[in-house]
Amino acid sequence: MKTMITLGIAGLLVASMAFGSAVNLIEDYRNAGAGPFSQSEGRSAWIQQHQSSDGGDARSCSSCHGTDLTQPGRHIKTGKPIEPMAPSVNPARLTDPKKVEKWFRRNCRWTLGRECSPQEKGDFIRYISKP
Ligand code: HEC
Repeated sequence: MKTMITLGIAGLLVASMAFGSAVNLIEDYRNAGAGPFSQSEGRSAWIQQHQSSDGGDARSCSSCHGTDLTQPGRHIKTGKPIEPMAPSVNPARLTDPKKVEKWFRRNCRWTLGRECSPQEKGDFIRYISKP
């Protein structure tokens, strides 16, 4: 009985931590004046094609991550597989705010040629969190 309770509490803690970090980021973006956030805006931004400044093929988030976030993606430059983005199948996703911000910075620069705004990042998180 005691073990069950301990396990239950541990489970809750893990769940709230995992859920908590995406929520913290959303909170940060709200504090930056953004919101409300929209899953459908996130979805359209995800597949939006951007012309690259170096004359290469147009690029989008889906170029590497695909459009079915429960499936693995493939890095368009290196060909390396990328684990699924959806937290429902890959619980490590969106749990580490530093990692999320680092990759937003890198991927937005590469894909859009600039950093994403807090509004765009919040919309992406809503979209990635859902499937
Ligand atoms: C050139 C390939 C590529 C493109 C295009 C790309 N990504 Fe990524 N993305 C990666 C790689 C590689 C990682 C890190 C490896 C991993 O986490 O599996 C990553 C990781 C991430 C993460 C970290 C998630 C987490 O919690 O682990 C987020 C968020 C993300 N990308 C969002 C985006 C968004 C938004 C776009 C479009 C603006 C985008 N990516 C476009 C390759 C790409």
